[in-house]
Amino acid sequence: MNTFNRRSLIKAFALGGAVAALAPLARLASAQAMQRPMPVGKLATNYIIHNDQPWALETLRSAFGVAPITPQSAFFVRNNLPTPDESIVANADAWRIEVEGAQRSGSITLEELKALPVHIEAAVLQCSGNGRAYFPHNPSGSQWATGAAGCALWTGVRVSDVIAHFGGPSDGKLFVTATGAETLPDGVDPSQVVVERSVAIDKGLQDCLLVWEMNGAPLPLVHGGPVRLLVPGYFGVNNVKWVKTLALTEVETGASIQASSYRFRDIGESGSPAHPSMYRMPVKSWLNGPGADDTSVIPGANTLHGVAFSGERGIDKVEVSADGGQSWREAQLVGPDLGPNAWRSFVLPVELTLGKHRYVSRATDRAGDTQPRDAIPNHRGYGHNGWNDPALEIDVVAAHSRAASVGNAASATPVAAGVQALDSSVALSPLAAQGREIFMGKAQPNCTVCHTLSDAGSAGAIGPNLNTLQPTVEQVFAAVNQGVGAMPAYEAQLSEAEMRALAAYVAEATSG
Ligand code: HEC
Repeated sequence: MNTFNRRSLIKAFALGGAVAALAPLARLASAQAMQRPMPVGKLATNYIIHNDQPWALETLRSAFGVAPITPQSAFFVRNNLPTPDESIVANADAWRIEVEGAQRSGSITLEELKALPVHIEAAVLQCSGNGRAYFPHNPSGSQWATGAAGCALWTGVRVSDVIAHFGGPSDGKLFVTATGAETLPDGVDPSQVVVERSVAIDKGLQDCLLVWEMNGAPLPLVHGGPVRLLVPGYFGVNNVKWVKTLALTEVETGASIQASSYRFRDIGESGSPAHPSMYRMPVKSWLNGPGADDTSVIPGANTLHGVAFSGERGIDKVEVSADGGQSWREAQLVGPDLGPNAWRSFVLPVELTLGKHRYVSRATDRAGDTQPRDAIPNHRGYGHNGWNDPALEIDVVAAHSRAASVGNAASATPVAAGVQALDSSVALSPLAAQGREIFMGKAQPNCTVCHTLSDAGSAGAIGPNLNTLQPTVEQVFAAVNQGVGAMPAYEAQLSEAEMRALAAYVAEATSG
């Protein structure tokens, strides 16, 4: 990864500002103006950019169409570690996967995989943290609202056929374990950061696929191309990208991302294998329009639209309420039913008068489960499926007043603030000065290994550039205490006071 360069960063801030000015709807709020060019095929105006390293791109609510397939240009991205080199998709057919735990061990290339029986599955991918922004206890990690989800057509071969190709499962295997090919940072225990996940062997051999196409095109690098695992109906993290090893194993992997991360637990608890892993996605729905992200809505007859899904189950019905759930009207499921792991589009005709409206949707799946009003609070803000929080707020305004308000928003671009933040040298408080020592010294692995922070002179490129991210004290404390994605937790190693000092340091050293 290239080293930190102030001039190009300032240019990128200016560019980010220009893009934002052209498209005021694309979330001016993200002070982290775009620093790196968007991944191939991605349209910046479709996203809220939470992070550019590793990529965390949320689909704007207004960028979802009514039809049930999400185009690649708008499909969300959530990577745990930096994307591998582009060269691996240039020569995709040569991609080689090691297969272990079958009667015969060996390896298979993408070219050879393509000779096995082909399957196409329509499936939703959704980040475990989708809806995290709605939890009131500020869980660490990207603050996704509704858009860390998308539905695509995936082309590939069954894991069961791949295993059969190697003589079938060997005895005593209980899990299918996949490992991603991300480059891991030097000097860090690989099991702390590697993206390696296990699912029960029954699930793995029943309907999981190794896929190389997304919506009929070669799987893009940023989505795990040349080959990723598809675990239909399960949360995103299980769908390992850039699969380099596919193994049948007797036990779940001990990698942190399986053993302690992505575990559903009470607020304040550390994750462990005793807590449920983020596997099947529960029933969920939300409305996408019209009027999301302050897009214009004409008064009078309109059609509400949204999406509903439930992992492995499919949708029975969706209801919509305009009065906070006191009364419900059944929406119409529309378009093709693409199977139990896809999402279903729904519509409802409404009359919209001038003024504010608030609509919610509530889905029931084919097993009879209905979305609850409120999601279950949990430490990391996973699995949000409450119907109340993601309400669609529509403001129907007359055309001339709309033009005025958009003009105001556009002038509030974050360009100047971003540049100023970089130029001001910061005087640290005594607490922050202590934190600086910990950042550069005591914390093991060292923060500098993975993060860029100009005050500390570090240029790590595994995690977000902290100068760009400008995290709050609370955000740093939560990240260090609990870990986030591939970042290790430090709670066992640092005292609360040390973590407070670290948080003060990162926040002060990066604030404008
Ligand atoms: C092994 C690499 C690694 C080390 C070491 C590391 N981080 Fe991180 N850090 C990451 C990655 C990767 C992310 C992005 C996590 C994600 O969003 O999936 C991250 C995210 C963060 C965030 C953003 C959290 C958020 O809310 O989005 C902060 C703040 C942070 N790290 C601070 C630190 C500090 C302080 C240290 C030292 C105690 C540290 N990191 C050590 C890899 C690392």
